[in-house]
Amino acid sequence: MSGNWKMYKTPAETIAFFEKFRPLVEKSEHCEIVICPPFTNLAGAVDAVKGSHIRIGAQNIGWAREGAFTGEISGPKLNAVGVTHAIIGHSERRQYFGETDESVLKRTQAALEWGVLPIVCIGERLEEREGGTTEAVLASQFQKGIAGLSEQQFARIVIAYEPVWAIGTGKTATPDIAADAHRTIRAQVRGKFGKDAGDAIRILYGGSVSPENVKTLMAQPEIDGVLVGGKSLDAPAFASIVNF
Ligand code: PGA
Repeated sequence: MSGNWKMYKTPAETIAFFEKFRPLVEKSEHCEIVICPPFTNLAGAVDAVKGSHIRIGAQNIGWAREGAFTGEISGPKLNAVGVTHAIIGHSERRQYFGETDESVLKRTQAALEWGVLPIVCIGERLEEREGGTTEAVLASQFQKGIAGLSEQQFARIVIAYEPVWAIGTGKTATPDIAADAHRTIRAQVRGKFGKDAGDAIRILYGGSVSPENVKTLMAQPEIDGVLVGGKSLDAPAFASIVNF
C-alpha cells in the first residue's frame, strides 16, 4: 500500500502526518506500507518512521551514480538517508518532464543497482482508452521500458498500473477495467520473462483510490496493492485505505 505525496507537504507537515499515521497502522502487518514524500522531506520521514514497518520512497531516482546532472538525485544519495523505494515513470513525469520508456528503464536499472526497490508506473491516456489502444499502449510501454531488464532484475520490481485519466480526477477505473489492464500487463510479463515471473510480479493499481473504493479494487485477485495520491496526504484516510 503506497502513498505518493507528489509536490505536497513541508518537513514539519511530514512529521505531523507520521505522528497521526503511525498509531493507526501499528498493527497493519498484512501489507507493506511505503510513503513517497518530496525529496526535501525524505530524511525527516525516514526519522519519523524509525521502529515502525513503514518504509519511505522517493518519487524519482537519477540513473547515474553522481556527476553533472542538475536537479537529479541518485541512488547512493537516497541510500544514505535510508530511502528504500522509488516511484519511476509516473505519468506526471512522462507528461510534464519528458520521461520516456527508455529513461524509465535506465532509472529502474540504477535503482536496482543501489538496492532501491522500483515502483514502475505505466498507464494509458484518455484518448488512448477511447481510441481502443489501451492494450497496445501498455504493451509498448512495457516492451520499450522494463522488458529491457534481466530476469533477475525484473524479479525485484513492482509495477503500478495508473490509467492517466483516473489520476487526480476522482474517476477511478472500475475494478473490472483495472483487473483487465493488470491481466494485459501480466500477459506481457509472461511473454517476456515466463509464467513464474508473470505469476509473481506485484501490480499495484493507482488512480483516485479512496477509503470508499479500496475494498472493491483489492477484492480483484489481479490487484496486489494500490498507489495512492490525493488520499495519502490525510493520515486517517490513508490509514483506512491500508486497513481496508
Ligand atoms: P490520485 O493519484 O490517487 O490522486 O489519483 C495517484 C497517483 O498519481 O499515483
